[in-house]
Amino acid sequence: MDKQAAIARVEELHRLLNQYNYEYYVLDKPSVPDAEYDRLMQELIALEAEYPELKTKDSPSQRVGGQALDAFAKVEHRTPMLSLANAFNEGDLRDFDRRVRQEVGDVKYVCELKIDGLAVSLRYEDGYFVQGATRGDGLIGEDITENLKTIRSLPLRLKENVTVEVRGEAFMPKKSFEILNQQRSERGEELFANPRNAAAGSLRQLDPKVAASRNLDLFVYGLANAEELGIDSHSKALDYLHELGFKTNPERRVCANIDEVIQFVTSWHEKRAQLPYEIDGIVIKVDSFKQQEQLGATAKSPRWAIAYKFPAEEVVTKLIDIELSVGRTGVVTPTAILEPVRIAGTTVQRASLHNEDFIREKDIRIGDYVVVKKAGDIIPEVVNVLPERRTGEEEPFKMPAHCPECQSELVRLDEEVALRCINPKCPAQIREGLIHFVSRNAMNIEGLGEKVIAQLFKEGLVQDVADLYTLTKEQLMNLERMGEKSATNLLNAIEASKENSLERLLFGLGIRHVGAKAAKILAQQFETMERLSQATKEELLAIHEIGEKMADSIIAYFSKPEVTDLINELRSYGVNMTYKGPKAVSNADTDSYFAGKTIVLTGKLEKLSRNEAKEKIEQLGGKVTGSVSKNTDLVIAGADAGSKLTKAQQLNIEIWDEARFLQEIER
Ligand code: IVH
Repeated sequence: MDKQAAIARVEELHRLLNQYNYEYYVLDKPSVPDAEYDRLMQELIALEAEYPELKTKDSPSQRVGGQALDAFAKVEHRTPMLSLANAFNEGDLRDFDRRVRQEVGDVKYVCELKIDGLAVSLRYEDGYFVQGATRGDGLIGEDITENLKTIRSLPLRLKENVTVEVRGEAFMPKKSFEILNQQRSERGEELFANPRNAAAGSLRQLDPKVAASRNLDLFVYGLANAEELGIDSHSKALDYLHELGFKTNPERRVCANIDEVIQFVTSWHEKRAQLPYEIDGIVIKVDSFKQQEQLGATAKSPRWAIAYKFPAEEVVTKLIDIELSVGRTGVVTPTAILEPVRIAGTTVQRASLHNEDFIREKDIRIGDYVVVKKAGDIIPEVVNVLPERRTGEEEPFKMPAHCPECQSELVRLDEEVALRCINPKCPAQIREGLIHFVSRNAMNIEGLGEKVIAQLFKEGLVQDVADLYTLTKEQLMNLERMGEKSATNLLNAIEASKENSLERLLFGLGIRHVGAKAAKILAQQFETMERLSQATKEELLAIHEIGEKMADSIIAYFSKPEVTDLINELRSYGVNMTYKGPKAVSNADTDSYFAGKTIVLTGKLEKLSRNEAKEKIEQLGGKVTGSVSKNTDLVIAGADAGSKLTKAQQLNIEIWDEARFLQEIER
């Protein structure tokens, strides 16, 4: 085929493949057999191989074209991604309606299903999909464009050449979730707790091939810049999104009053189980954009919308046994082993029983029928017992007097409800401590899951956290399911963890009462392990966030000779013991250039986001404001700065470019 003919054919193939894809994934009404689709796709791939210049970014062949990334880039949302206030019953909905009508008079509401997935923001320029991001903190999210492209119902090209910012929910259908967990269980991999976690985990994969294999789907529910396009209501925006080629959820209704809303909500209580995807409630939005504007928003959520959350699903099943596990701090917790039962989309076999008192108060016996629910729809727990179903065979449960792992005597500390094993050599505690050390908020060593740790421990290769740094490739390759590649990756991850900033190590060591946040504050204040380990109680208490209990615990921890040995050992392996993050706002910072100054940021910064720049300045004692006035001390102007820069020039205010700013903050 000559080039001219190839151009025409490629165009035709794009059109056909997009149409078939749309019919299949958005409308759920395929018009051609799969084989025909595959044949056309192969033809397109062949033509693109012959004429690489015809391979465009929006080609239907490019859904899995992206390279694996090292990390996700940050994306600043042009319109913040707010979340919603919750309603839990009819009264909450009526209160919401009253507040709304008080402000704007008569309203129409749109009711939509609240899809249980992951909020995403999608940017299209001139009809082309250019960027997709997670919600993040609502202001800044992560760029997951390549992963989103793998969702077949996401249009790469719209039916009109418009520039739009669209919001929606990426999710994993129930069926895909079941298949995925089945495969994971066959491969001995950890299971996802629910479809939402699975969807989030899939979209946070750095390699788009993984996301592509996960069969995700997407409903869009909002158009951030609808009014620019002359649309005046949410229901019209949804219709327009559908016309552009997006998959919108058909189960929506415009309601004339709150009674109709309540009817919609109630009807979905029962019907939700029949849907092929999970929903966790109903979202109710004021339809008119003008009224939405009048109502406005709080810092966190709009006043024109509310999320009605379904009550947690409760089911009855039989309690077969009670198992005990010993945590990192020695606390022994009872777990109910249940006859498998489905709750809110997943099969549940274990549920929390909290502690001995809970079991006694509820009189929970082995063999009982119990009511189980998922707290926050995630962690299963036993709610109560059905004594009327007892046969007399049930056995009351008694906590043992000795640790199930090391047999040492269990104790109750102070006024605690929990029973603890206080043997510092208890293998369960050591193993759990290792798991904590490598976990995400601590040293964040990827590839060291619970199973690998358990094996390393069992084989005697690792007895304390320092031993992790002595592991060799040969040792790792002797473990089950550990190939050469995984072993190399794991060693690299362990090596990389040596460079972590001090707060990760501090948190990872598991000092009692020192959580991730406290670890960060301590690291910021003391900067080195050495200084922290010598801190006096007065010095610790001088820090606003540190109380008596934590101060005592820190002092007690560092006074143990085995802790000194452990830290020395870690240091000898090259583990970093200094704080690497931004400096604390302390008296020392009054000599920072920014201290006490009022600063305005304008234009586009290259190296930092606006928020990061603001944070830095605030850490150094400065104040960041939005507009330039005679009270402004300094304007930092990035690329394409506009009227704020002009005003600063007129007022003769000091102006820095980004390079000068970076130089100052890196000082
Ligand atoms: S509207 C400002 N509509 O629920 C309004 N949200 O806190 C933004 N969600 O993070 C949300 N289905 O991820 C809206 N039909 C729907 C939704 C929906 C699911 C999620 C969304 C948001 C959370 C609400």
